[in-house]
Amino acid sequence: MEKYRVGVIGGTGMVGQRFISLMENHPWFQLTAIAASSRSAGKTYEEAVGSRWAMAGEIPAEARGIVVQDAEADAEQIAGAVDFVFCAVDMKKEEIRALEEKYAKLECPVVSNNSAHRWTEDVPMVIPEINDSHIQLIHSQRKRLGTKRGFIAVKSNCSLQSYVPALHPLLKYGLEKALVCTYQAISGAGKTFATWPEMVDNVIPYIGGEEEKSEQEPLKIWGEIVDGKLVKAQGPALTAQCLRVPVSDGHMAACFMKFADGKAPSMEQIKADWAAFSGRPQALNLPSAPKQFLHYFEEENRPQTKLDRMLENGMAVSIGRLRPDTQYDYKFVCLSHNTLRGAAGGAVLLAELLCAEGYMEKK
Ligand SMILES: NC(=O)c1ccc[n+]([C@@H]2O[C@H](COP(=O)([O-])OP(=O)(O)OC[C@H]3O[C@@H](n4cnc5c(N)ncnc54)[C@H](OP(=O)(O)O)[C@@H]3O)[C@@H](O)[C@H]2O)c1
Repeated sequence: MEKYRVGVIGGTGMVGQRFISLMENHPWFQLTAIAASSRSAGKTYEEAVGSRWAMAGEIPAEARGIVVQDAEADAEQIAGAVDFVFCAVDMKKEEIRALEEKYAKLECPVVSNNSAHRWTEDVPMVIPEINDSHIQLIHSQRKRLGTKRGFIAVKSNCSLQSYVPALHPLLKYGLEKALVCTYQAISGAGKTFATWPEMVDNVIPYIGGEEEKSEQEPLKIWGEIVDGKLVKAQGPALTAQCLRVPVSDGHMAACFMKFADGKAPSMEQIKADWAAFSGRPQALNLPSAPKQFLHYFEEENRPQTKLDRMLENGMAVSIGRLRPDTQYDYKFVCLSHNTLRGAAGGAVLLAELLCAEGYMEKK
């Protein structure tokens, strides 16, 4: 199969570096262009990233010599050279919205990690195992943008990539509310311990905007399409506290859940639902899809960030410590890799889904 030619916008950043790593040896995707700010433009990727390279292993050989382009000034050239782009940039929201629409209108699909378009009504925000059907919104989005190929599809925030998949198979029991505390890694802020030494031996109880995203984005994911627009779900009610903890990669969440009166399933049933759960990526056997999306650990001291974040190449969700609670029905702990499943890996899986479902026809 001829590979899709792929560009990475924001390729020098923390998430961008993950994209570059994931493109190496990808069976469907060929890294073709890298773009970032004007600060990096004109340098080879190796020069532009320099000491910021934060991935395990070397910079992939195929990326090292690529000359980084200016994401804004060179947009037309990049859009003409690739079949689609991934986008993960640190810019103002209005600037990101404009940049992503510019690529879409240049007939270049954008699969984005940024939050700027997550609440645009006709932009699908997708966790491929959960709401793959929302990619149909692309038809109405293309009408609005006046495009044939171009569109924007986004993935949701990294904080919720563990507890939303865990809660999803339990919605059928009338899940009324959930309370979640997240313990989030520093790579989620684009940082390492070298660039953020204040985080060593420290916890910061504030991540700007994260609690609202953790409470609201699940309702879009669980929403339905009405007249070409996404109408968000009314429930379950979610409340969240998000803390930054001294961990390099991996967001943990402690979650409490309450079902409608008399409807709470047994613990055995919940574990069986988690074990049986799979979605469209597994049915289509997509290259980045974990074989088993939700893994339950019976050991009392699991999941652990260091031990379990790379489960199934960082694309699976680890769950443990399911037990009854005194105020809610049950509580449990869950973990997902924030720059793999929670960012670049989740976006690569979404791109694979869009290819398999016929939304990314090659030029
Ligand atoms: N880190 C995570 O776990 C995570 C998870 C989910 C979503 N996200 C989202 O992904 C995006 C990127 O996050 P990150 O952690 O990778 O940030 P980051 O490490 O700070 O990287 C930012 C990237 O944006 C580029 N950039 C900055 N200004 C630009 C401009 N004016 N034009 C074009 N490119 C520009 C930078 O290029 P230069 O190198 O040239 O400055 C760099 O490539 C953010 O929207 C973030 O919210 C991050």
